[in-house]
Amino acid sequence: MQDVLLTVSLGLLASCMMATSNRDSPGSAQTAATLRQAAGDRVLIGTAIMSHHLDDPRLADLVARQFNSLTGENEFKPASLQPRPGEFTFDAADRLADFARQHDMKLIGHTLVWHNQAPKWMFEDESGQPLPRELALENLKHHIDTVVEHFKGRVVGWDVVNEAISDREDEYLRDTPARRAIGDDYIARAFEFAHAADPDVELYYNDYSIEQPNKRKKTLRLIRELQAAGVRIDAVGIQGHWLIDGPETQVIDDAIAAYASLGVKVMITELDVDPLPRRRGAGADLSAIEREGLDPFKDGLPDEMQRKLAERYREIFLVLMKQADAGTLTRITFWGTHDGTSWLNNFPVRGRTNHPLLWDRELSPKPSFHAVIGVLSTPAGAR
Ligand code: G3I
Repeated sequence: MQDVLLTVSLGLLASCMMATSNRDSPGSAQTAATLRQAAGDRVLIGTAIMSHHLDDPRLADLVARQFNSLTGENEFKPASLQPRPGEFTFDAADRLADFARQHDMKLIGHTLVWHNQAPKWMFEDESGQPLPRELALENLKHHIDTVVEHFKGRVVGWDVVNEAISDREDEYLRDTPARRAIGDDYIARAFEFAHAADPDVELYYNDYSIEQPNKRKKTLRLIRELQAAGVRIDAVGIQGHWLIDGPETQVIDDAIAAYASLGVKVMITELDVDPLPRRRGAGADLSAIEREGLDPFKDGLPDEMQRKLAERYREIFLVLMKQADAGTLTRITFWGTHDGTSWLNNFPVRGRTNHPLLWDRELSPKPSFHAVIGVLSTPAGAR
């Protein structure tokens, strides 16, 4: 009992010391404890950025010190890498790859196939009709071969296919240009092409709201089908675009366990917690744009909401670190670094002032940062 109390006290003391040093000097190099230090080798802690964010030295310094994994928020997507047939533009993504290597961060490739930010010519003709299957497969293979080979030895894992599961209750796979041209097996083919291009790179399926029972069931089916067909799949990425009041952490816990039971690793790949009101639920369905919405925290998040957000992050991290300690969850990536650059300033309502991440617009760590680092710093038995 005394041992437990001592461990709890030490854990709390450590997190308080870290919290204080971070609050005092958000951009300072002498800050003792960072997310990556606190996580150690139990779980990768990542962030998603755009290459131009590196133009801000304070932000670049914060990213390098706090995180040990990096995802390109937009610049590894097909529309960025191959805007026109055969015309590959790697500069921005290469800049991120160089930064990751320089700071010993594991680089994640996001993404090889997605229905958004995908060049139309890849799967459709000029009148919007699906290309013949063989031509579409050729385009898919050429894109994957070129991109995966380009980043060989630098990207540790690819989100091979992003958001292929339908949001509709009665539909398995999403209706997308790739699927219309190739058929349901566009997913399996993409994984095979990626594996052939780099047999050492890890391959992930990535999607939002797949912790929820309906999409979870379909994602489990997809993974089983890929496995039964002998297709390599290393992990499933639960994006984690969550709200301040949902989903329940039990749902997250159950989903991680269900995916892990299929023998794949689980990652939280795009974590943020939206404290603003919205009409529809959590997730990242880009068609769910709301024309008007309340924008109640334009001048900053009030203390009470800061506390609520921090408590929500704490309860989420308690579950995630329980799973990480059990070896089922291997990475947690935040979708952005500070509130000012979050995509949630424009979703589901354009132009709001949102506050979903661990650092505010001045790069000061928020109570949510202290909550997260507190959980990361507390030994499993003492949480
Ligand atoms: O690059 C153009 C720029 O030239 C133009 O002037 C400007 C005007 O709007 O747009 C810029 O493109 C924007 C792009 O982000 C880069 O900033 C697009 O409009 C904007 O729609 C795009 O949003 C991205 C979104 O994916 C849509 O593709 C977000 O930044 C990015 O965070 C978001 O990320 C997705 C993941 O990839 C998949 N999961 C959901 C997640 C959130 O939607």
